[in-house]
Amino acid sequence: MYANFYNLKEKPFEITPDPRFLYLSQSHREALAHLVYAVKERKGFTVITGEVGTGKTTLIQTLLSRLDGATRTAYVFNPNLGPTDFLHYVCQDFGLRGQKRSKGQYISYLQNFLMDCYAKNENVVLIIDEAQNLDPNLLEEVRLLTNSETPKSKLLQVILMGQPELDAVLDNFKFRQLKQRISLRYHMKPLNKGEMKKYITYRLIRAGAKDTRIFTPKAVDRIYRYTKGIPRLINIICDNALLSGYGADLKMIGDRTILEVIHNLDGGRLKEWKKFRRLLPFLIIFLFLIGLALLWQLGPFRKTDLRDSLEMQGAKDLLQRIYEGLLSKISG
Ligand SMILES: Nc1ncnc2c1ncn2[C@@H]1O[C@H](COP(=O)(O)OP(=O)(O)OP(=O)(O)O)[C@@H](O)[C@H]1O
Ligand SMILES: [Mg+2]
Repeated sequence: MYANFYNLKEKPFEITPDPRFLYLSQSHREALAHLVYAVKERKGFTVITGEVGTGKTTLIQTLLSRLDGATRTAYVFNPNLGPTDFLHYVCQDFGLRGQKRSKGQYISYLQNFLMDCYAKNENVVLIIDEAQNLDPNLLEEVRLLTNSETPKSKLLQVILMGQPELDAVLDNFKFRQLKQRISLRYHMKPLNKGEMKKYITYRLIRAGAKDTRIFTPKAVDRIYRYTKGIPRLINIICDNALLSGYGADLKMIGDRTILEVIHNLDGGRLKEWKKFRRLLPFLIIFLFLIGLALLWQLGPFRKTDLRDSLEMQGAKDLLQRIYEGLLSKISG
């Protein structure tokens, strides 16, 4: 919609995990290197974790797009399955067709498949995304599958990708056997500020931008402060900002547009904070005067003959007026 307005061939900040738009930050580069190494060197179990939206699924898609024909893969993107359904799905994804079987039959079917692949010098990789949601029993099944090995190498490589909760699952005492088999482990980090600037520029170029100075430096600072370098959040903010900019006929997106976008995405919470911030000085004076009045009444200055004095009455009147003023501001 806004692509033409900004001279782009397509929208640069979609939230789908598209490997064409992959920007390799230091952390993404290292995570990808772990994945490629795990597959090529038949490392058995590999675990990659990262916060929500840091790019785990995008890396999986990138890995899949880079593997050659000598690697057989099954990719489980939703592991919320019972053991038999899980094994059925894995067999299908490896390209093994056939009638429904029992759990035991699936396991021996898979083991035969692994031996066949080994004989043909094919590498077999099982990738499980969202692995933090894996049922513990299923995790144990997966471990048992990796028991097939030759004296020299594992017949099945397993890659578990998941949010940081996955670490807690694996740290559980009952998975100590599995944990001992993890040969590679890596935690992905969000982008730092410099990387985020390059990330935005990179995605704009991939989308066909000739001039990438669409976001002002202040806007970029604001995006970083809000997103803390999480790619999915960056995409959402930038996409909404381009749409707003297009609506307002702005060729350059400034700090103000980003603030508005954040405010809209936050469901108006920012507006309430701004309103509250305007009232803050009044509130501080009000509390200060209450404190003074209390000191006067109860503290070391207490003097019975002064309690009903004219000054006290004046202070009470003043407090009353400030209080009423505050009430009318809040309701207005
Ligand atoms: N290195 C990157 N280069 C380009 N785009 C990226 C990168 N990392 C993440 N993204 C983008 O961020 C968005 C979220 O990425 P992705 O879905 O891979 O995150 P995730 O870690 O799998 O999230 P979740 O924990 O919710 O599963 C996608 O639009 C993706 O294209
Ligand atoms: Mg994901």
